[in-house]
Amino acid sequence: MRGANRSRGRLVVISCALSVGLLAATSPAAEAAPRYSPGAPGAGDPYFPDMGNGGYDVGHYDIRLAYHPETQAIDATTTILATATQDLSRFDLDFQGPLTISKLTVNGRTAAFTRSGAQELVITPPSGLRKGSPFVVSVSYAGVPQQIDDPALGVSGWVATKDGAVALNQPIGAATYYPVNDTPDDKATYTQTITVPAGLTVLANGEPGPTTTRDHQTTFRWSMNRPMASELAMLAIGDYHVTRGVAAGGLPNITAIGKSIDTKPGQGKVFNDTTAQIIQWESSVYGPYPFDSTGGILADVGVGYALETQSRPVYDQKTSRVDGDLLAHELGHQWFGDSLTPARWSDIWLNEGFATYSEWLYQEKFAGVPVQQTFAKTYAEEKDWSGKVADPGRDHIFDDLVYNRGAMALQALRVKIGDRDFFRLLSLWPSTQRYGNVSTRQFTEFVERLTHRDLGSFFRTWLYQPGKPAL
Ligand code: TRP
Ligand code: ZN
Repeated sequence: MRGANRSRGRLVVISCALSVGLLAATSPAAEAAPRYSPGAPGAGDPYFPDMGNGGYDVGHYDIRLAYHPETQAIDATTTILATATQDLSRFDLDFQGPLTISKLTVNGRTAAFTRSGAQELVITPPSGLRKGSPFVVSVSYAGVPQQIDDPALGVSGWVATKDGAVALNQPIGAATYYPVNDTPDDKATYTQTITVPAGLTVLANGEPGPTTTRDHQTTFRWSMNRPMASELAMLAIGDYHVTRGVAAGGLPNITAIGKSIDTKPGQGKVFNDTTAQIIQWESSVYGPYPFDSTGGILADVGVGYALETQSRPVYDQKTSRVDGDLLAHELGHQWFGDSLTPARWSDIWLNEGFATYSEWLYQEKFAGVPVQQTFAKTYAEEKDWSGKVADPGRDHIFDDLVYNRGAMALQALRVKIGDRDFFRLLSLWPSTQRYGNVSTRQFTEFVERLTHRDLGSFFRTWLYQPGKPAL
């Protein structure tokens, strides 16, 4: 773990360097007593000040959840493995809605907690947590989870469906069904162990473990063993037809279609095959696929969007177009958004610009429509040029501006730096930043290093300033 002694070392230098130096460094008197303080209640994102928390770093979430269709209630225990990043007297998790907590422990000991505001679960462990030390938080809770319905950002979180539920967390939904450090810059691995009445199916991110049935209850286990942002965690409970295939290199490819909407013969196979084909093609452009399985879920969830949930996107029946373009978009996100995740929501064009560009590349490769032609059409037809791509504002993160102008900025960049450097960029950017958090600044610096060019005015025009750029 990272340096538990760093603050002590620094104190020694400040207080003693002038006179006694080395001698003091070995003296026990130089050992400062820990000064425990509360972790911050937010992670510092200006768009979502309450989301995420400070003072610790989560390594793993273990979600064990049972779903009861008669009442639509869940009961669950989520266990979180974390490391303190400061001497902590107290810390918050994000947890919202009507679920009631029956038990909460830190390192196995009952801890005091209160719930404050819409989403802060404030936890005071029986004794302080030293900076650098690992700790375990376990929270047991139950109730009927409530979806988020934000006027600007739509429906997210735990969404009840006719046959079960689908959890779609972007950007603020995760805390509707598990306690979480709900910020994209604290990625963690996950195991989700979900119990449902026998007959229902559960899908989630990553790879399946054994499924066991006992007393008419079936338990499914899914593991995501690569770092994942909470906004990309997913869970689908319901009546599904599941298709298991493999993509190139033996990559497990698990797709599912809600039984009520799986009406066209052969649809399951087409969905599975198209997913495999696009993953193979995108791997040839963006570099090795970052996760250990792929797939997708077509569900009757009614939110009106598809989501790039990690390793296994969810496509809403209601978006009506479950075609190659949309698959190329959500699967493109596996590199741009999922493996590489903006630390701040203002940089979401780094996801949506590249995912939209994936659609344009797909049309060029599989439908013979040149990207430059799509660019020209979008450039000519776009009416609203008033926003800033690299800081669109909280209520505008899903606007066309972010998607279309983001992709246009990439095509304009391609024209400026040439195909050779541009396609090097498309694979080098995701491979150098794999599983990390990124920013627009890091991206522009990366492009300038790669091309040995000063692109300051180009990026200002396309990313930072409003207004229609001249060509
Ligand atoms: N990020 C999703 C995608 O582009 C789309 C999305 C998620 C969305 N939530 C939304 C679109 C809310 C509109 C409103 O794949
Ligand atoms: Zn997208």
